Amino acid sequence: MKRIGVYTSGGDAPGMNACIRAVVRTAIYHDIEVVGIQRGYEGMIDGDFRKMDRHSVSNIIQRGGTILKTSRSERFRTEEGRQRAYNRIKEAGIEGLVAIGGDGTYAGAHAFYQQCKIPVIAVPGTIDNDLYGTDYTIGYDTALNTAVEAIDKIRNTADSHNRLFIVEVMGREAGYIALNCGIAGGAEVVLVPENDSNVDDVIQKLEEGRKHNKTSSIIVVAEGDQSGGAIAVANQINEQFDYYDTRFVILGHVQRGGVPTCRDRVMASRLGSASVEALQDGLSNLAVGFINNRINHTSLAKATKNHREMDTNLLELVEILAG
Ligand code: F6P
Repeated sequence: MKRIGVYTSGGDAPGMNACIRAVVRTAIYHDIEVVGIQRGYEGMIDGDFRKMDRHSVSNIIQRGGTILKTSRSERFRTEEGRQRAYNRIKEAGIEGLVAIGGDGTYAGAHAFYQQCKIPVIAVPGTIDNDLYGTDYTIGYDTALNTAVEAIDKIRNTADSHNRLFIVEVMGREAGYIALNCGIAGGAEVVLVPENDSNVDDVIQKLEEGRKHNKTSSIIVVAEGDQSGGAIAVANQINEQFDYYDTRFVILGHVQRGGVPTCRDRVMASRLGSASVEALQDGLSNLAVGFINNRINHTSLAKATKNHREMDTNLLELVEILAG
């Protein structure tokens, strides 16, 4: 393989730059040229390419976002869009691809391989940590730490004013951020899409807390939870339970930005390097990931069909520790 392309797609995640750097530097080490495909699948269709050398990835390991930019592409969902992208890839002499992103990126890479048979390796890059075939996704650790820091700050006000705060974190279909920042932030209740949640049960728990003289509480809710998110939960609690003065906070895209943690930089570097090595070994249509801290390969057919199961027993731990 003489020339490969690398792109980031879907939601940006802290650590994507560290991964791009690892892809470029590992490829150069093996005498492979690298083309940066800008704006994900959109840029692939438009032929928005740039040649990458060792200097084009200097001083980016510590930066959030993605220097290659990203997008969510509707055009790439069509056969015609993918054909156009393939034509651009061929013209540029690109022989293999590294796709960094979440489930939409994986689905695009898999469809592209099936239609055009271009070798592709996917790398898990999403703050959601919800991809099959890996214990870890790039950006999750940073996002989690951002959320925990925010909860710690919110707790100061909750405690000072005897308030109840409902904190909404990201995760349309996955509750990993909610569950783990809830445990780390000492939340009284965590609501996630993976579990049937019911605000009446939450109110029941708040009642119990009141009996134990709790003066403040924090509830963490994932944006995709069936309760409808922080505003809906706050409204329902306000109607039925007036013991607390209730406020809500939606953390939103704050969780996607910022300086990547050490863990995200190291893991992203290892994954980026492993993706190039996989291409070099003639592997294709698979995702690299980590299982028990070791590089793991999962076929994209499997990774796109399955969801990573959450250990919902940890929700019980939240309840036990809430006291
Ligand atoms: O997939 C990452 C993620 O941040 C989700 O947690 C969130 O639901 C979604 O992206 C938001 O996407 P957008 O930035 O396109 O609104």
